[in-house]
Amino acid sequence: MSAPFDVAQLSAAYADRSPQDILKLAFEHFGDDLWISFSGAEDVVLLDMAWKLNKNVRVFTLDTGRLHSETYRFIEQVREHYSLPIEILSPDAKLLEPLVKEKGLFSFYRDGHGECCGIRKIEPLRRKLATVSAWATGQRRDQSPGTRSSVPVIEADMTFGSQSHPLIKFNPLSKMTSEEVWGYIRMLEIPYNSLHERGFISIGCEPCTRPVLPNQHEREGRWWWEEATHKECGLHAGNLIAKG
Ligand code: ADX
Ligand code: SF4
Repeated sequence: MSAPFDVAQLSAAYADRSPQDILKLAFEHFGDDLWISFSGAEDVVLLDMAWKLNKNVRVFTLDTGRLHSETYRFIEQVREHYSLPIEILSPDAKLLEPLVKEKGLFSFYRDGHGECCGIRKIEPLRRKLATVSAWATGQRRDQSPGTRSSVPVIEADMTFGSQSHPLIKFNPLSKMTSEEVWGYIRMLEIPYNSLHERGFISIGCEPCTRPVLPNQHEREGRWWWEEATHKECGLHAGNLIAKG
C-alpha cells in the first residue's frame, strides 16, 4: 500500500470528481485489496467502470438464498460477460437453520427485516470485510431521501471497520442520479437485470421487493410494510447513524 489514506482530506478533494476518478484513487491505494460489492441490480454500472480500469477487479455478492431467479441469472450473465470470478457469499447455516426452524421463512413480515437481514446479509458481509482494507458500493444519494441523502464518496467504515481494522468505504456513484445510471447502461449497452423491464427499480430479496407505480419513489418497493426511515438492512447502517 502507498502513503497513508487521509479520509477527510481525500473525501473533500474527491467530492465532485467523477466515479471513475474515485475508483482510480481506490485502485491506486488499495489495488487488489479493493472489493466491489455487487447486488445484481443497476450497480452493474459500478462493476463496469471498475472492470474498465482493472480487468482483475475483485467482486463479491451476498447470496441471501432469497434473491429472484432473474437476479441469479443476471449475476451469472455478469460473471460470463466480464470473465470475472464473482465471489458468492452464503449465510452461516448454523445461524440460519435455527431462525427458520423457530420462526419460519417469512418472519420479517411480522418481526421486521432486521433479524433475517442480520443472518442472511450482515453476518456474511462482516466475515468478508474482516479480511479486506477497502470496499466499494453502488449506493447513491437519490436512492433514498430518508437515509442516503448525504452519502459521502469516501468514508471510514465504522460499522464493519474499527481502530484495529481500519476499513475504507468508497461510494463512487454517490452523486449519480438514476437517470444518469440508466443513461450509462443504455448508451454502453451493458447487461442489466431483466426485472427492470417489469417495473422493478430498486432490487433486493424477492419477498422484500416489489415493483413501484409511476411516480412512486424506488425505495417504496423495498420492505414496504416498514417506515421509510428504517429502510436500511444494516449493510449501510452508517447512513442511519449519520442521520441521527
Ligand atoms: S440495501 O442495503 O438496501 O439492500 P441497495 O439494494 O440499495 O442496498 O444497494 C446499495 C449497494 O449495497 C449496492 O450497490 C451494493 O454495493 C450493496 N449491496 C446491496 N445488496 C447487496 C448484495 N446482495 N450483495 C452485495 N452487495 C450488495
Ligand atoms: Fe431476509 Fe428480506 Fe432481508 Fe432478504 S431483504 S435478508 S429476505 S429480510
